[in-house]
Amino acid sequence: MIQLDTTTSNHLLKVDLNHSQTLRLQGEISIPGDKSISHRSLMLGALASGTTTIRGLLLGEDPRSTAKCFQAMGAEISELNSELVTVQGIGLGNLREPLDILDAGNSGTTLRLMLGVLASHDRHFFTVTGDKSLRSRPMLRVVKPLREMGAQIWGREGGGKAPLAISGQNLQPIHYHSPIASAQVKSCILLAGLMIDGETIITEPERSRDHSERMLSAFGANIEVYGNTVCLKGRSQLHGQEVTVPGDISSAAYWLVAGAIVPDADLLILNVGVNPTRTGILEVLLEMGADITLENPREVTGEPVADLRVRSSQLKAVAIGGAIIPRLIDEIPILAVAASLAEGTTIIRDAAELRVKESDRITVTAKCLNQMGANITELPDGMEIKGGCSLVGAEVDSCDDHRIAMSMAIAALVAKGKTVISHAECAAISYPSFIPTLQKLF
Ligand code: S3P
Repeated sequence: MIQLDTTTSNHLLKVDLNHSQTLRLQGEISIPGDKSISHRSLMLGALASGTTTIRGLLLGEDPRSTAKCFQAMGAEISELNSELVTVQGIGLGNLREPLDILDAGNSGTTLRLMLGVLASHDRHFFTVTGDKSLRSRPMLRVVKPLREMGAQIWGREGGGKAPLAISGQNLQPIHYHSPIASAQVKSCILLAGLMIDGETIITEPERSRDHSERMLSAFGANIEVYGNTVCLKGRSQLHGQEVTVPGDISSAAYWLVAGAIVPDADLLILNVGVNPTRTGILEVLLEMGADITLENPREVTGEPVADLRVRSSQLKAVAIGGAIIPRLIDEIPILAVAASLAEGTTIIRDAAELRVKESDRITVTAKCLNQMGANITELPDGMEIKGGCSLVGAEVDSCDDHRIAMSMAIAALVAKGKTVISHAECAAISYPSFIPTLQKLF
């Protein structure tokens, strides 16, 4: 039985499978559009001149927040659907001053990327906020470099927490050496650089996802990449494009792990974005002994795409740390599920960023899985996961974090007894059809 109880405001996902019968985790799965690429296609579409068409947009809450913010600043965006969305861009520098506070909801990508756009719109005033989780997340990582460029931003904790007020300025170019590998920081600075005469440069310690670089180039920006450094010469007009959004590998990750850990599984996950800056999850699962094959590799609007086949296998522990971390940062909660069932002890290091995601994902992942019988010790920047556990059903709190809710639902597939996951409705942030897909598969 897999059931979503919506009778309370805190929706409960109940999973209680009969393990004496063979579970039939078999067939084909289509996953929703990539969240990072969805945000960027809406934003660049809004900033470009002319029409952008978006096929395969993610209809999650996060891209909806991005669309609403840019609509409030003058972009005409058709009703969101995954077939075809059209964006009538307003042209670089032509944002309208919004009449009200811009609300980024739960979405760090919306807020941080948008700050670069707002800070560089001279003589415009903006206020931005988000939900309780987003208002607690660190913003200085983008506010600090923007201030070095001349931005005027105010907010709680020295401008480090939303709500924030921004007085748009004519910014100056900088070469920013980011202390963290973050695509949100990198993209914020690049978007600010669009409006600047001269060359804006950002160097990061490790390579983070490069969807902004790819899409900015496709829209006509003057952008070059040299290793971990990106250079953008501003003031080139952007032109509307036809974008097809590939499936999100971060959403595919739940099925990759489900396919690996549920006995006799054989799943084909269709149309998954396999951009090398995102495929850390594949590399780690393969190293753990997962049976995953890439089929039908192709390129869709400048992004590599493939179908991924996964079959059950016995997993073994790995050590995860260093440069691979930004390439799998969102997949660590579901990797912790795989590691709990693998043979041996998995160590995850260099992932302190997890503590400032939608929840503290080190604490919450460890707490939920330990309640289900796992053996996870928190480290300041990761986890030590003793594998070989037999998971048991438990009542766990997702803490309103979509990636935790979905990871625990996959853990529940192999747990003995009933698992109840609270606030499971938050899966809709990045994967609105996750629970119906799960119900259809079992
Ligand atoms: C994202 C970048 C990552 C990631 C987030 C989406 C993006 O965040 O965790 O889900 O679309 O740029 P950081 O830049 O904070 O690492």
